[in-house]
Amino acid sequence: MRRLFQILALCSIALAAPSQRANHVLHEWRAAEPVGWVKSRRAEVEGIIPLRIGMKQQNIHMLEDLIMDVSHPDSPSYGQHWTPERVVDFFAPSESTVSAIRRWLAVAGFAEDQLRLSPNKGWIELNATVAEAEWLLDTEYHVYEHPSGEKQLGCHSYSVPEHISEHVEIIRPTVHFNSLVPEDPTRLHKRANPNHLGQPSSIYGPKTNGVKVETKPSLANCDQFITPDCLRALYNFHYTPKATAKNSYGIVEFTPQAFLAPDLDLFFQNFSSTQVGQRPILVSIDGGVVQTIAQSFSFNGESDLDLEYAMALTNPQPITLLQTGDLVEGAGFDNWLDAVDGSFCTFEGGDDPTQDGIYPDPLAGGFNQSESCGIIKPPFVVSVSYGQDEGTATHRYATRQCNEYGKLGLLGTTVLYSSGDNGVAGFGGVCQNSSGLDDPGGGLNEIRFNPGFPGSCSYVVSVGATQINSGASVNDPESACERIIFSGGGFSDIFPMPSYQEAVVTNFLKEHPPPYSAAQFNNSGKARGFPDLSANGANYVIAIDGLFELVFGTSASSPVVGSMITMINDARLAVGKRPVGFINPAIYSPKFAHAFNDITTGNNPGCTTDGFTAVKGWDPVTGVGTPKFDKLLPLFLGLP
Ligand SMILES: *[C@@H]1O[C@H](CO)[C@@H](O)[C@H](O)[C@H]1NC(C)=O
Ligand SMILES: *[C@@H]1O[C@H](CO)[C@@H](O)[C@H](O)[C@H]1NC(C)=O
Ligand SMILES: *[C@@H]1O[C@H](CO)[C@@H](O)[C@H](O)[C@H]1NC(C)=O
Ligand SMILES: *[C@@H]1O[C@H](CO)[C@@H](O)[C@H](O)[C@H]1NC(C)=O
Ligand SMILES: *[C@@H]1O[C@H](CO)[C@@H](O)[C@H](O)[C@H]1NC(C)=O
Repeated sequence: MRRLFQILALCSIALAAPSQRANHVLHEWRAAEPVGWVKSRRAEVEGIIPLRIGMKQQNIHMLEDLIMDVSHPDSPSYGQHWTPERVVDFFAPSESTVSAIRRWLAVAGFAEDQLRLSPNKGWIELNATVAEAEWLLDTEYHVYEHPSGEKQLGCHSYSVPEHISEHVEIIRPTVHFNSLVPEDPTRLHKRANPNHLGQPSSIYGPKTNGVKVETKPSLANCDQFITPDCLRALYNFHYTPKATAKNSYGIVEFTPQAFLAPDLDLFFQNFSSTQVGQRPILVSIDGGVVQTIAQSFSFNGESDLDLEYAMALTNPQPITLLQTGDLVEGAGFDNWLDAVDGSFCTFEGGDDPTQDGIYPDPLAGGFNQSESCGIIKPPFVVSVSYGQDEGTATHRYATRQCNEYGKLGLLGTTVLYSSGDNGVAGFGGVCQNSSGLDDPGGGLNEIRFNPGFPGSCSYVVSVGATQINSGASVNDPESACERIIFSGGGFSDIFPMPSYQEAVVTNFLKEHPPPYSAAQFNNSGKARGFPDLSANGANYVIAIDGLFELVFGTSASSPVVGSMITMINDARLAVGKRPVGFINPAIYSPKFAHAFNDITTGNNPGCTTDGFTAVKGWDPVTGVGTPKFDKLLPLFLGLP
């Protein structure tokens, strides 16, 4: 350490200059500060930073081919999923990567005993002072502040020596705002920082029109009231599971979002009477609790909706509730991933605290045990009705997480995310300006569409929303959802087009070229399009805070599709086959085309445009359409 300080003193003039150090190359950067955050001051040079270096994984370029191999309906290896051990070993960084990084750090003055390798071999951790980290990464650390009072330690960009760059995926804390400066815990229940999932906020979660349902809905008025019976009739979804002991279906919720037991019972009384008293199996991830202190639509709406419908539609399949994050810190996508596959776990974190909770939680009342790492086997289907604007994640962060979804696919898990409720716009209806950044006050600057993540990841099943048109019945064609919400859809600014969707997405762009320019979305024909499929998302009758209310959103569509896949898995498990795992290569294949109701009417407006239009074939509003369960089941059952 001493040695490094001497070097630092000598280099201080060079450090002050913004230009890059010789042989260093820029590794990651943010084009602007995240909305609401203000850079307040330089970090103190003596402060300690727990630096974590996410090393380049081996063979990761083969992931798409490997997933296709076990998931494409024409592949002879369909369903031959990998073991977790095989996945860890196959993608672990190579010896040469680990030793290159160790050498780099040794030359920089860090002793061997200061470095630690994570159990999954993906990360090297070391404690460095701010001054050392700034020198190592040729950067400047600042304290950033949010109006909520939250503080973050981070830098705007960083660089590494050219010969190291190829060995590093990401380094934290850097541009992802990795180090929370602890705040006053008395204010935590009302944290205003909208970056945290599960926090009560009107822009996340399902929407309600505030209408209380006081009459008994029937199959004759599904255009006004969606119930489990409406969905069964719409999608010919009639199936009683028989392999429940072998099967699993996980629903992810982020604390403080929580279900209320009396709401489940109220719903079951009216719509699934044998289930009164039934509860999901709670898996508490990182101190996750089903809190009942705060009760309102924004605390209970998402969880009540997801569980009422998932449980009713798969009855009597037990549902696993992956309740993620404690009451103090909350959590993010990497936290539930940690709990099911351990891939993101490091000794003390490695997640991204603008999105992810870091455990143990140092704050009063927080979860003070180690992070939940690989505590349960991944359920065969996982539905997550949460998301973020893709532009708020760096490419490297989003890519590393996306690859973890790919690994889950290799293991045989289907991961579904709702596609978003704002059409081509992002959360809160925010669009991007010409620099590709969220611009909430942008007005006329808001020209660029704002794709949602993780749905934009090619290894996730992104689920959009449809509606039954007014006056229409369950036997009539649905339209893209245009009630209260618009189905999230578009093209990724990060992920390239996966091979499984090439034919249909290219066809869409060619036959129905959208009237927009490259300034509005990546129209090159090389970007990943989403959603993949859709299901009804309008007028759901749910029991919420003791009453029946109507809710809207792709939040509803995702657990409904998840329920259908879970029942298909049941049929396969019952005859000794593996679950379907990653379904996209199958649902885009020509032999599956007749198993979907093609949606050809409606739009997903946003960013002062009409958005995209649902047309014949795939479209970035409703994907390949809504499932015909009675057609999908035999197709999947017929695969090896
Ligand atoms: C970094 O410091 C923390 C706090 O002292 C300690 O718990 C942790 O083990 C250290 N990590 C390494 C890699 O030395
Ligand atoms: C629930 O059931 C009660 C009792 O049958 C009935 O009065 C009420 O209208 C029903 N409400 C809904 C939304 O189904
Ligand atoms: C951890 O948290 C529990 C429950 O809040 C508390 O009882 C216990 O004292 C804490 N342990 C430590 C070491 O802080
Ligand atoms: C885009 O918005 C960001 C704020 O998120 C701002 O810093 C930047 O200057 C804007 N760019 C343009 C071209 O308006
Ligand atoms: C569009 O997407 C492709 C695939 O991700 C990418 O290679 C290309 O650079 C993108 N184009 C623009 C203008 O961003």
